[in-house]
Amino acid sequence: MPREATHTTTLTVQGVEIPKLGLGTWQMTGYACEEAVRDALELGYRHIDTARMYGNEAEVGRGLAASGVDRGEVFLTTKLLPQNLRAAEVRRHLSDSLAHLRTDFVDLLLIHWPSPDGVPLAETLGAMRKLQEAGCVRHLGVSNFPAKTAREALELAPVICDQVEYHPFLGQPALLQLARERDLMITAYSPLAQGAAMHEPLLREIAEAHGRNPAQVVLRWLLDQPQVAAVPKASSHEHRAANVDVFDFELTDEQRGAIAGLQRDERTIDPSWAPDWD
Ligand SMILES: NC(=O)c1ccc[n+]([C@@H]2O[C@H](COP(=O)([O-])OP(=O)(O)OC[C@H]3O[C@@H](n4cnc5c(N)ncnc54)[C@H](OP(=O)(O)O)[C@@H]3O)[C@@H](O)[C@H]2O)c1
Repeated sequence: MPREATHTTTLTVQGVEIPKLGLGTWQMTGYACEEAVRDALELGYRHIDTARMYGNEAEVGRGLAASGVDRGEVFLTTKLLPQNLRAAEVRRHLSDSLAHLRTDFVDLLLIHWPSPDGVPLAETLGAMRKLQEAGCVRHLGVSNFPAKTAREALELAPVICDQVEYHPFLGQPALLQLARERDLMITAYSPLAQGAAMHEPLLREIAEAHGRNPAQVVLRWLLDQPQVAAVPKASSHEHRAANVDVFDFELTDEQRGAIAGLQRDERTIDPSWAPDWD
């Protein structure tokens, strides 16, 4: 029997309502990716995160189509390749992404990383703005932007999101402060620290107290934060089902504080082209 769809909670930034929990798809390809997206939508996910860099937009598009869920119900994000940030490349790239995703628009288009080649932010955001005016992109955002660069982006375009690594072992105080000031969504990527959260004794203890698992505790902790969304990746049905099932238990203030206290500046994603982090 298929599980009944679960409705996830939403956040609102700059008047835009967005499901707080999404499915991450990095490192998922082929039929497994297509099936993961279809299954997630059946489970009630309404937010899917992909990127040109993941090489799986076609599979994500097939999963969306196979789900039968109305396109208008799904918040779909993709990201520009760091080496395609010139205006002409942005247009071409987006048109390829839309063809792969089998859709006329994406809900959110992100600059995946600050340009490693020095392409001016104004040029890229200007091209993205035109795509937004043309209706191919609903909203604009950035990813892996430290607070200073995110502030620059906000001066240039109506950016609603910065997607960054965020989990109990890596705090993001500067960006959370900016999010409060400027009504920005912080999307937590690698929210489970790529699975390391499962082995943390404190998280296991809190999970046991609630009859949950540590992934659910971490997701609940993240999603309790007002402007924070999270996009855990799960390649198994069981993990996808567990991750969407996090809205019917409550962490205590003491537990939230203890989880926040696990911060140790531990980053799982730090490629050679990364910016100077906050
Ligand atoms: N913007 C960027 O530069 C950027 C960078 C990295 C990631 N992202 C996005 O963020 C998404 C998530 O990040 P991530 O893939 O790095 O790591 P993650 O979501 O923190 O962790 C994924 C790992 O956790 C496991 N897991 C998931 N749910 C679980 C559960 N309920 N119980 C036990 N284990 C569980 C998964 O196992 P199974 O797969 O076996 O289920 C996988 O090994 C990506 O897929 C991508 O969409 C964006």
